[in-house]
Amino acid sequence: MSILLRGGPMMAAVPRKIGPSDVPDVLKRDSICLPDIPESEVIRYYTKLASMNFGVDTGPYPLGSCTMKYNPKYADRVSSLGSFADVHPYQDDSTVQGTLAMMYDMERKLATIAGMDAVTLQPAAGANGEHAAMLIVKAYHEERGETRDEVIVPDSAHGTNPASAAMAGFKVIEIPSASDGSADLDALRAAVSKRTAAFMITNPNTLGIFDPKIREMAEILHKEGALMYYDGANLNAIMGVTTPGDMNFDIVHFNVHKTFGAPHGGGGPGSGPVGVKKELIKYLPSPVVRKDGDMYRLEDNGPASIGKVRSFYGNLNVILRGYAYILRMGSEGLRDATVRAVLNSNYLKEMLKDVYEIPYGDLKKHEFVLSASVLKRDKGVRAMDIAKRMIDFGIHPPTVYFPMLVDESMMFEPTEDCSEDDLNRMAEVLIAIANEPADIVTNAPYCGPVKRVDETKAAKDMILSVRYLKSREQ
Ligand SMILES: Cc1ncc(COP(=O)(O)O)c(C=O)c1O
Repeated sequence: MSILLRGGPMMAAVPRKIGPSDVPDVLKRDSICLPDIPESEVIRYYTKLASMNFGVDTGPYPLGSCTMKYNPKYADRVSSLGSFADVHPYQDDSTVQGTLAMMYDMERKLATIAGMDAVTLQPAAGANGEHAAMLIVKAYHEERGETRDEVIVPDSAHGTNPASAAMAGFKVIEIPSASDGSADLDALRAAVSKRTAAFMITNPNTLGIFDPKIREMAEILHKEGALMYYDGANLNAIMGVTTPGDMNFDIVHFNVHKTFGAPHGGGGPGSGPVGVKKELIKYLPSPVVRKDGDMYRLEDNGPASIGKVRSFYGNLNVILRGYAYILRMGSEGLRDATVRAVLNSNYLKEMLKDVYEIPYGDLKKHEFVLSASVLKRDKGVRAMDIAKRMIDFGIHPPTVYFPMLVDESMMFEPTEDCSEDDLNRMAEVLIAIANEPADIVTNAPYCGPVKRVDETKAAKDMILSVRYLKSREQ
């Protein structure tokens, strides 16, 4: 075997042959340990593994707060086009004009959707976007010569919010929810001071409740010189209907892999762009895409920039999927998706409200939280048991035990692509489970590829390869 090596990227290709004699003795082996298996068996094995997986292409996936909507196949096709997929990050700007034009346009489309003035596409996940946003908040106050070391979050916040604020060096101040599930305005007033850098909140919140007092909150924060940060993970509840800009937010992150139909979770890396109002533009990460006449180029964002938060320009293939989705949907389509998602969530909630408790108010947005506390009290059946039993009926479980302010919580987010039949079936299954004998539910699942697994052990003691398992057994 011989391999052709080429010189540096700018040199004319001068092939040099290398052969076995170039390989150091220490790296040479007499045999390699490859299994002797026919191709047919390998294919069957992997096909079987793939069929054990559950995904948005398999069935309804109402995993609350995750917006597991169907990922359209046209977006996959666009993102795998060679003219995008084969681009090298070190290519000269003049050779990647199409990619830069797409990024430039995507930034503007996202800015319009969120009511912001500029967007960076760099962060690779929602949490990465939150952290970048917190660094921007920090840079903004520092440049104004202000020492602000506190970030306020409601107790219904997603865990990444306080984590991102803490990682950026802020002290996290948690405020309680009011009796209707929205953020407590009096608690907010009491928490805000000259030390407050920002208030991090998602609206609607993780209970699916849209907070009508949001502008009042913004006024309280702005009066003290602090910033309003919008966690955009729930954008599927407001997209095309209102914007964080209209609610007087200063900074927002998006989850392209939730709202705009790109895969996430186990399905691929994400993308968490950050949008800002005018006065924060100079702090955005570098590089930024500029347009001069008809030409696009990448440029450093200047001395006030927080620098890089991810290598190169972000997860371009996820951004491309989101871009294709936005173009295909158009503004009417995006609004329609929101309206349907909210309708589906309320339709399902109405069918379940006599069987499970639904704390905190009535009308919800794109998701709602049920409590299994009465089933736990009466039969010893917990939210986790119900979630596991749903697997037997071919429906992906909801998010359980989050948000933590609801006892035995099950958070459902039936996205806009759920049909009426899907929703009816989901309700039918959940009602049937509530009426089943306790021991059937608490020992489920029976039909999944695995029985009840020890999730703590699986997370803390990961064995991801046979080689690793064997090395531990020795
Ligand atoms: C409300 C909320 N905020 C932030 C995040 C973090 O997003 P990511 O998982 O992309 O880091 C999530 C993720 O589920 C979320 O639900």
